[in-house]
Amino acid sequence: MKIENIPQYEDLNLVTTEIRERCKDLILDDDTLREIQRRFLDNIKRGLGKDTHEEAIIKCFVTYVQNLPSGEESGKFLALDLGGTNFRVLLIELSQNHFEMKSKIFAIPQHIMLGSGERLFDHIADCLYKFMKEENIVDEVLPLGFTFSFPLIQKSLTTGILKRWTKGFNCSNVVGHDVVQLLLDAIDRRGDIKISVMAILNDSTGTLMSCAWLNHNCRIGLIVGTGSNACYVEKQKNAELFDGEDLGSGNVLINTEWGAFGDDGALNFVRTCYDEEIDKNSVNPGKQLHEKMISGMYMGELARLVLEKLTKEGLLFGGKGSDILFTRGSFYTKYVSEIESDRPGTYSNCIEILEELGLKHATEQDYINVRFICECVSRRAAHLVSAAVAGLLNKMGEKKVTIGIDGSVYRYHPHFHNLMMEKIGHLTEPGIVYDLMLSEDGSGRGAALVAAVACRHPR
Ligand code: BGC
Repeated sequence: MKIENIPQYEDLNLVTTEIRERCKDLILDDDTLREIQRRFLDNIKRGLGKDTHEEAIIKCFVTYVQNLPSGEESGKFLALDLGGTNFRVLLIELSQNHFEMKSKIFAIPQHIMLGSGERLFDHIADCLYKFMKEENIVDEVLPLGFTFSFPLIQKSLTTGILKRWTKGFNCSNVVGHDVVQLLLDAIDRRGDIKISVMAILNDSTGTLMSCAWLNHNCRIGLIVGTGSNACYVEKQKNAELFDGEDLGSGNVLINTEWGAFGDDGALNFVRTCYDEEIDKNSVNPGKQLHEKMISGMYMGELARLVLEKLTKEGLLFGGKGSDILFTRGSFYTKYVSEIESDRPGTYSNCIEILEELGLKHATEQDYINVRFICECVSRRAAHLVSAAVAGLLNKMGEKKVTIGIDGSVYRYHPHFHNLMMEKIGHLTEPGIVYDLMLSEDGSGRGAALVAAVACRHPR
């Protein structure tokens, strides 16, 4: 287990006392994290239970994926990946522990993210057609894996009913419908291509599969990106809603949809006024409260809200803010990573960002304070994720587990990995050995792998 230089708060002693005082609520100590973990596991159990599932906040959806890849998977697959502001189409060729991939990214404009479901799926089918044409495969009928990274109630490997939209999407007439059918309908409306959908899956499931293909200890797939979620290997007997036939492993992957944790108030004891503000201004108020404390869609705005408040209280920038700083969404999540990437004692990224925000008058004391505020927000996210991951590790009780992880926050934040490695260690039972492995392109390769494993076990 590698934990290189556990990141402490830089310049802690130099941070203004009032700023430290005002940021206290953003710092969660280990006892608080243990309490969060206890509540989290209680929610997981309710999600898995037959009698408690209906009311449960963390849904623990059964994915119908039972077997992890063996490394022997082979063939040519299409994959679709919808889950953030972009949509990707991929063509993947798998052969023994080797793969080749071609892919194309298409933007999903805001008016489609908030428009009708029919328009969204027409757009997806259109992108798929364009890609197949470019790759000269319009006449082939390839097995396809569809990574659809929103909460889905699965009835089988190829049926997924949308429970709710997250991450800024809000298309009409999709919630309550089978998204595989909506895709097939859109393809039918065009009539110029054919596909064979082998599986629909979540990006956390894809991440687990993609990581397990290379590392046989992988049992958890994690996303800390625009949104946040985890998938893990559960025993079929504990997944009381699983109604499939055991294909031999006795296990089934569970898509926890942990982003919804706290929607019943379970996290109110640690939520701050900034979290309330974020929620109020979102397209889904009252929903995905855990995700809103963690993920990339909200992290920059959380930091901005702290900066705005403390500026108005006269504690930053001599009490003089700027129109940009006071504009919602102007402080990107990547700024948090960039500011924390400045070497100790230096502030070049911070200075550049503050200038962009119209805060040329910031002083060195402000740089120190701004970095501290970013650290408080990102560390809280890393610690909340760690409490939940450690909860899953404790629940699974396996001695050696690799966690496959993907997402922009994990990838680009300079300390997220080390923060998690350290904190998971504080919150797991003694004797559990774990590792965090960056999963390369879980949504794409994972979709091909789920499709490939499904081809091996036709229903
Ligand atoms: C969605 C999950 C997804 C996660 C990461 C959340 O908003 O509900 O299904 O796995 O984002 O993309």
